[in-house]
Amino acid sequence: MQGVTELKYCRVCKSENLIVFLSLGPIPLSNSFLRKEQLTEPEPFFPLDVCFCSNCGMVQLAQVVAPEIMFKDYAYLTGSSAPMKTHFTEMAERVIANLDLPAGSLVADIGSNDGTLLNQFKQRGMRVLGIEPATNVAELAERNGIDTVNEFFGEKTAQFISHQKGRAKVITATNVFAHVNDLDDFMQGIITFLDDRGVFVIEVPYLVDMLTRVEFDTIYHEHLSYFSLRPLMALFKRFEMSIIDVERIRVHGGSIRVYAGKGKKKLSGAAADLLKFESEARLDDVATCQEFAEGVNRIKIELTTLLKELKAKGHSIAGYGASAKGNILLNFCKIGTDIIDYVSDTTPFKQGLYTPGMHIPIAQETRIHDSPPDYTLLLAWNYAEEILSKEHRYRQAGGKFIVPSPRPRII
Ligand code: TMP
Ligand code: ZN
Repeated sequence: MQGVTELKYCRVCKSENLIVFLSLGPIPLSNSFLRKEQLTEPEPFFPLDVCFCSNCGMVQLAQVVAPEIMFKDYAYLTGSSAPMKTHFTEMAERVIANLDLPAGSLVADIGSNDGTLLNQFKQRGMRVLGIEPATNVAELAERNGIDTVNEFFGEKTAQFISHQKGRAKVITATNVFAHVNDLDDFMQGIITFLDDRGVFVIEVPYLVDMLTRVEFDTIYHEHLSYFSLRPLMALFKRFEMSIIDVERIRVHGGSIRVYAGKGKKKLSGAAADLLKFESEARLDDVATCQEFAEGVNRIKIELTTLLKELKAKGHSIAGYGASAKGNILLNFCKIGTDIIDYVSDTTPFKQGLYTPGMHIPIAQETRIHDSPPDYTLLLAWNYAEEILSKEHRYRQAGGKFIVPSPRPRII
């Protein structure tokens, strides 16, 4: 298929022992929202299979869609999400404090999006540089006053920027590491661009959280890798880097923040504990992934049965949050306009568009308040707490939320 390559070997350890345990596709790209006139045009669908490396335990997609197709006009803006803004403020404060970072240090962010994170470092006196491949988003960051290189990160870009700006004391990559196909080229770029005493900080969704909470809709084409600590350590070791510390954080349904540096470093107690936890969770056994796949198929059956029953009783149902994960859920469960009237979303540029694949119209948030639906399917469940408290009036007036995972339930 055009624009798709099959994964031949594990991206971390190069083993060919890959076992596919779940198929969610064929399915459109989760951020490819459509304009009305595009609804009648042919829409590209891509396979979405997930596999387990029986050598190192790495979970990854079995196919890779060409990045030029996925990232050139990215619709996701960090700054449009209030909880992510708070998260990045805390992250900047914590990294500066943990590393005792002096003012004027160069902090670079890979996949810097609209510059939300770097802006926090800048406000705290750091020199900042963004690296962002999506042209529309990089331009926005520049307008926000964040110096941004509009490129994919790798050895070539690293050579260019370290020549221009010097080496970075801190390189951050939040929710981007899992998007990288050629991790070797990326890591080589880190070696080139990172100061010898610098720290590389990544945030990635945590495999254990995805498996135990059955968050299958965080699996989408952009997310090529599903990390746990053990394969990450193996990867860093190959590049003569070591993991220094790890924190579990709540964003994106459960993530880890990993600190790494060059050379041999002592593993923190927290990291050693997490490794032990992973072995107790049987992350080295494909059966753990296969049980997860059974849970995924159970959600599909239970959720579609529930929605169809409600619809048959004459209830109105809307979706909440036109998130990327929501589009995976809607497509995998085949939930369309026969069940859901519209999806509400606060992001202005999504409003008036249609969800990929299922073609559900996206409306302003006010629609939920003006004519409240009986039920609202929570598609942005990663913001459940914020949304449920924000919508207390809707709930007091009898409106109900449906939460899809780990088992569909009404609240
Ligand atoms: P994300 O999980 O990819 O960030 O997407 C979340 C989507 O949900 C994003 O398009 C914004 C939307 N959203 C709302 O519509 N209302 C809300 O209160 C929140 C928190 C998010
Ligand atoms: Zn492997």
